[in-house]
Amino acid sequence: MKTIESKSSDQTFKLGEQMGKEISQGISIALQGELGAGKTTFVQGLAKGLGVCGKYYITSPTFNIINEYPVHCLTLCHLDLYRLESEDELEDIGFDDLVDDTHIIVVEWPEILKRISFKFDIEIIFKFDEQYNRIISIFASGQAGSNLLSKLVLQIT
Ligand SMILES: Nc1ncnc2c1ncn2[C@@H]1O[C@H](COP(=O)(O)OP(=O)(O)OP(=O)(O)O)[C@@H](O)[C@H]1O
Ligand SMILES: [Mg+2]
Repeated sequence: MKTIESKSSDQTFKLGEQMGKEISQGISIALQGELGAGKTTFVQGLAKGLGVCGKYYITSPTFNIINEYPVHCLTLCHLDLYRLESEDELEDIGFDDLVDDTHIIVVEWPEILKRISFKFDIEIIFKFDEQYNRIISIFASGQAGSNLLSKLVLQIT
């Protein structure tokens, strides 16, 4: 587990960017935290680090549930499951088909997937501290998650 304090949206963006630069295969990442905690900001940085074309502006897929962006031979799938009411709806959005070596799956409001015991490679928890900064904790599971986490140097300038 690694933890960092982010004092600005720019720092959260840069953390995402750093992680994005280290990803070269399919992986799943859960982003947990309250409204406005910085999950989408992190994904914007991640997209930049991955090399997603700048013509795409990454916004929260709150209404369409899933947004996809090409990344070389991979696809960044940004999901926001806030509005999902039941596990059956995961089938409607074709979630199972996303899980393979070519999809970088990043999920805001992942609780519904955790409930069905979906195992994320990386889980990131965003918390507010008293100064309204963000305490960001990153957990890894399995080989792919641990490899990625070990490459992160949590020094944001
Ligand atoms: N340290 C910080 N890290 C991230 N965002 C910050 C920080 N400080 C202030 N902000 C601001 O907080 C907001 C975070 O919004 P963002 O859309 O990233 O949150 P979110 O977690 O995706 O929320 P939602 O659950 O509604 O999708 C932005 O307006 C951003 O500028
Ligand atoms: Mg969001």
